[in-house]
Amino acid sequence: MRAVTLPSYGGPDAMVVAEVPDAVAGAGEVLVDVTATAVNRADLLQRQGFYEPPPGASPYPGLECSGVISALGEGVQGWSVGDRVCALLAGGGYAEKVAVPAGQLLPSPAGLSLVEAAALPEVTCTVWSNVFQLAALQPGERLLVHGGTSGIGTCATQLAARHGAVVTVTVGSAEKAARAMELGASRAVLYKEEDFVEAGPFDVILDNMGAKYLERNVASLATNGRLVVIGMQGGVKGELNLASLMAKRASVHATSLRARPTEEKAAIVGAVLAAVWPAVEAGELRPVIDRVLPLDQVAEAHRVLESSGHVGKVVLQVSDPPTA
Ligand SMILES: NC(=O)c1ccc[n+]([C@@H]2O[C@H](COP(=O)([O-])OP(=O)(O)OC[C@H]3O[C@@H](n4cnc5c(N)ncnc54)[C@H](OP(=O)(O)O)[C@@H]3O)[C@@H](O)[C@H]2O)c1
Repeated sequence: MRAVTLPSYGGPDAMVVAEVPDAVAGAGEVLVDVTATAVNRADLLQRQGFYEPPPGASPYPGLECSGVISALGEGVQGWSVGDRVCALLAGGGYAEKVAVPAGQLLPSPAGLSLVEAAALPEVTCTVWSNVFQLAALQPGERLLVHGGTSGIGTCATQLAARHGAVVTVTVGSAEKAARAMELGASRAVLYKEEDFVEAGPFDVILDNMGAKYLERNVASLATNGRLVVIGMQGGVKGELNLASLMAKRASVHATSLRARPTEEKAAIVGAVLAAVWPAVEAGELRPVIDRVLPLDQVAEAHRVLESSGHVGKVVLQVSDPPTA
């Protein structure tokens, strides 16, 4: 099979599409012939050598994919060869075939193409597990989404607005502000010109910046507020004002999806199937896709993400979708 390999760590051109041995489905896994995958911020870190795949994961990048099941490993029930699926992966999506633990599969949603479905697993699982399960966002609450037009941000905004929350986002440009408002945000803060703290307080904050925003995030939490840090684009070490946190009875969480054991990922995927897939199939949550590039243009796809020249997801098409 063809896969994106990393003979050495480095810039986008360090990635090489090469012929490698086929992936094989082990016990409890299915083999998916990949139609498309999508680029996640974490893939850029893996390419640079800062984010090793967890033990046992594929060495190739790619945290999500869509495609067609071509083989079932021992003991797999409930799925059949030929099923159209998408999946949350610990790695290996940038390849023609990937072995997926059965619990991490989702049916490709009705009404979407397989290429579109590749844009959903990572954002829906991350947003659902953090904003809705961990932070338990309630209708009427105020949510701040940093990076409102990121892949994650476009999903969080749509799901939270649909849930009846009041969504504020931070964005880097007026064009991105307009896109975020279209997706359901009530307010977009241009973070290069305005201080988001002034737009608060917020009951829940979904943060991609880490250290750089920690102090201001805590300052803008409401009483009983919940800050959930999922990214470290602004560094890993910050200073936490515990007095401010205590006075508000607020909490700070930090989570990673990739590092979770398969069973935990399967539980999140199950919750997403029950709670989010109906919204996708009703057209209430749309995958926001900036562009679709062929796998051979993986370097260009990484450059787009690196320069934040996108809104939503950058999808990599690996093979032609099946016709039948
Ligand atoms: N922990 C987890 O399990 C998990 C899972 C998935 C993703 N994540 C994290 O979630 C974040 C989004 O992921 P993604 O794949 O959707 O990434 P992405 O599409 O590349 O988005 C990154 C965003 O960061 C924004 N940004 C840059 N500087 C900013 C600043 N100072 N303030 C606010 N926003 C800023 C960029 O937009 P502008 O042009 O507006 O600056 C861009 O939209 C990443 O940090 C990623 O690592 C974590």
